[in-house]
Amino acid sequence: MSTFEAVVLWVLLICADLSDGVKFPPGFLFGSATASYQVEGAWNVSDKGENTWDRLVHSNPDAIKNRDNGDVACDSYHNWRDDVKIASDLGLHFYRFSISWARLLPTGLPDRISEDGKNYYNNLIDGLLEKGIQPLITLYHWDLPQRLQDLGGWTNPLIVEWFADYARVAYTLYADRVKGWITINEPVIVCDFVYNSGIIAPPIKDPGFANYLCTKFLLLAHAKAWRIYDKEFKPKYNGKVGITNHLIWMEPFSNEYEELTENLRHYLAGLYSHPIYTKDGGWPPEIEKIIAENSKRQGYPRSRLPAFTQEEIDFIKGTYDFYGFNFYTSRLVRKARDGETLSNWPLENGCPELSAAMEVHPSWKKTESDWFWINPVGIRKMLGWLKKTYGDMEIFILENGLATKDYNLNDEDRIKYYRDHLEQIWLAITEDGVNVTRYTAWTLVDNFEWIFGYSVKFGLYEVDFEDPKRKRTPRASAKYYKEVIRTHSFDVANKNNYDEL
Ligand SMILES: *[C@@H]1O[C@H](CO)[C@@H](O)[C@H](O)[C@H]1NC(C)=O
Ligand SMILES: *[C@@H]1O[C@H](CO)[C@@H](O)[C@H](O)[C@H]1NC(C)=O
Repeated sequence: MSTFEAVVLWVLLICADLSDGVKFPPGFLFGSATASYQVEGAWNVSDKGENTWDRLVHSNPDAIKNRDNGDVACDSYHNWRDDVKIASDLGLHFYRFSISWARLLPTGLPDRISEDGKNYYNNLIDGLLEKGIQPLITLYHWDLPQRLQDLGGWTNPLIVEWFADYARVAYTLYADRVKGWITINEPVIVCDFVYNSGIIAPPIKDPGFANYLCTKFLLLAHAKAWRIYDKEFKPKYNGKVGITNHLIWMEPFSNEYEELTENLRHYLAGLYSHPIYTKDGGWPPEIEKIIAENSKRQGYPRSRLPAFTQEEIDFIKGTYDFYGFNFYTSRLVRKARDGETLSNWPLENGCPELSAAMEVHPSWKKTESDWFWINPVGIRKMLGWLKKTYGDMEIFILENGLATKDYNLNDEDRIKYYRDHLEQIWLAITEDGVNVTRYTAWTLVDNFEWIFGYSVKFGLYEVDFEDPKRKRTPRASAKYYKEVIRTHSFDVANKNNYDEL
């Protein structure tokens, strides 16, 4: 070997080492996600029933920025082939989407299954599978049939039956091809944010009371849906079912707030995790105690947080095949000052139940969304906390992404967000031994961002909402993510070889 050849070989080995060094474990899967109301449109086609978001946007258009609505959105109901094509162009291993409950079951109940609704999801599933992309279905991503809402929705104990019946219909129709299921997306939004703020669907404000009814019945509904799959479908299809939480990393504002901060973690994550992922099950004990004491002081005959029977505790405990969570941002925690108003938990400035106020660190970059500051190391700390608190579980990251406001295709800030978070997840896997096996980029296409309407963008693909065809165009971040998936590594940002989409 000449000196020159030796040098070339040495350089090649070093390069191979470097890229190998930042690779995700073999078998790690990358996906992207959407939700029915945010992309489907076609709100009144065929026999689809009305849901809570249809009702909110039509009855109170001013609740939404620019009076936008999801009547058409990305029109994915008609354009699903475009979604499958771009998912395939990206090389996604899986695509997470949700079923619109009222599209499949127009009455909310299983007395009638919509043929068109059923076929829409059949087409989407088969289209994905043809391209080698695994479908990952969310059963509930916030669009409750309005009829069930009129009967109390998630605060009516019968929701446990209604949700379980709906889940059984979905499994019966699709579980032969769909091996991954998420029962409910972000219960802390469905219960706490909904009833504490009153500003999203259903617009009912009943803070500190209705939210806890919702929490209890939602956990039971999740557990029942998990058990139906486990008993009736898992033996045949061997898929995985779990719930996905919205988690925010909480840091103490200063040392004196360690205990308060840990309590807030047990409140945000714990109310929806302790009952499912611990040996004892039930409510997180420190939180149960605080709410009981507050309730007593306020003159209630019993805790506002409804008790579980032992039978219910056992029913919910262990109902998971993975730990799922969505991650965007972090907060600093301190005690609230006398007279300080705390509102809109968990996305604004604090948690009244714990008299905890939330701040942000000046070094965290503010995004163009009101609730969202960037702290990539937060996701690594969150993963470490989950492992320490609930033990070694398989973890799916089911949403992560950056909000921007403009239409810029050259979204370097989004690439940086993905890169920095993937790096922290990789460190959690390789340094901290956390068993993360999936990552999900939120979101595939710009879509209806709830009360922010179309003013906030999360898409790997830009959508032209003026175009009747809702043309999808890849942003730079789509090209970056494609390369992440191809190389199984986050460290591709400085290579100029990802402009082929
Ligand atoms: C469906 O809703 C649209 C508004 O989004 C309306 O223009 C149209 O007439 C409705 N179609 C039916 C069949 O009600
Ligand atoms: C991660 O979890 C999966 C599913 O339980 C398991 O098969 C795998 O061996 C785990 N990996 C590690 C490194 O613990």
